[in-house]
Amino acid sequence: MIEIDPAHAHLAAPLADALGAVERRFETQLVSEFPAVSDLCEHVSRYRGKMLRPTMTLLSGIAAARGDASILERDALVRLAAVVEMIHMATLVHDDVLDEADDRRGGRTVNRLRGNETAVMLGDYLISNAFHLAATIGDAGLTVKLGEITNTLCEGELIQLHHREDLGLDFPTYLEVIRRKTAALVGGCGRLGALVAGGDERTCEALGRFGEELGIAFQVRDDILDLDGNADEVGKTLGRDLAKGKLTLPVILLLDTAPPDRFERVVHAFESHDSELLLELLRESDGMDRALAFARERVDAGVAAIDGLDLGGTESLLRDLAASVITRSR
Ligand code: IPE
Ligand code: MG
Ligand code: MG
Repeated sequence: MIEIDPAHAHLAAPLADALGAVERRFETQLVSEFPAVSDLCEHVSRYRGKMLRPTMTLLSGIAAARGDASILERDALVRLAAVVEMIHMATLVHDDVLDEADDRRGGRTVNRLRGNETAVMLGDYLISNAFHLAATIGDAGLTVKLGEITNTLCEGELIQLHHREDLGLDFPTYLEVIRRKTAALVGGCGRLGALVAGGDERTCEALGRFGEELGIAFQVRDDILDLDGNADEVGKTLGRDLAKGKLTLPVILLLDTAPPDRFERVVHAFESHDSELLLELLRESDGMDRALAFARERVDAGVAAIDGLDLGGTESLLRDLAASVITRSR
C-alpha cells in the first residue's frame, strides 16, 4: 500500500475501506465446503502483498471519476480489484512451480508445502474463480478484456521459458517478455479501473499506459531484487532467475558493454549459475545502475502519460504510487 500524502487525507479512509472490501470479496469468493480446498485458499489469502494491482484499479477509478471517492462504493470496481489480485495470485502460485521457489510473501509456497500437483490445481482454481467473479460483474466486454490480459500474460511466461539458458536473449525480447507477463495486468488495472468508473476513452487509455509503464518498471526492480535483494526483506526466494537460466536486464546490460575478458566471466557465471560471481561482476560494473535508470525512465514515461488530464487531484497520489514501484525493497 502507498502512503497517502496528508494533502489527500480525504482519500485515505475511502481507499483503505475499499481495499478492506476487496480483501473480503477475495475471501468470500474462495469459499469451499472442503477443508482440503479451503485450507489452501486460506493459505494464499494470508499472502498479504503490496496490493499494487487493486490499489492501481481503485485509484484509477477515483481518477477517472475526477477525484470523487464515492465511486469506490460501486461494487463492480471492488469486484474488479479482487479479480485482478486473484489473477495475480494464480500466476504467482504457478510461477513458484516453474521457479521451484520455497518462499512467497513471508510464507511457504504452495509447491513447497503440498507439492507441484496441488500448486498447479490451486492456481487453476484461483484463475477459474477470478473469471467466475469477473462474470458476476455482468459486463461481457470487461471479461473479454481480462481474458486478453491473461492470454498475454501466459504468452510472456511461455516466451520466457523458451529463452531459458539463452545468453543471446536481447533487450527487445526481454522487454516483450516483461511487458506481457507483468505490465499487461498492471496496465489493465489502470485501464479497466477507469473504464468501470465511467472514464472517457482518453482517460482510460492514459491510465492504461501509466499502469503499463509502471508494470515494466516494477518487473525491472523485481529482477534487480532477485539478484541483490535481501530475502528476508523481500519475503520470497531470491536468485531464482539465474538458477532457472533467465537472463534479466542488469545482466543483459552488463554483457552489452563488457570488455572481452569480463564478457567471458559473465558467460561463465551465467552458464554455471554462479550467483556469487555474477553479483561480483555486476557490482564491478554499472549493469545494476543502468537497469535502475531504465526503470526510472519507465516511471517518468508513466507519469508523462497522465500529464495534462484532469484527474481530480489524484495526480500526486498516482505519482507516489509510481515512485513506490522502484523505491521498494520488497
Ligand atoms: C513472474 O516473474 C511474474 C509473473 C507474471 C507471475 P518472476 O518470476 O520474476 O516473479 P517472482 O520474482 O517469482 O515474484
Ligand atoms: Mg518467479
Ligand atoms: Mg522475480
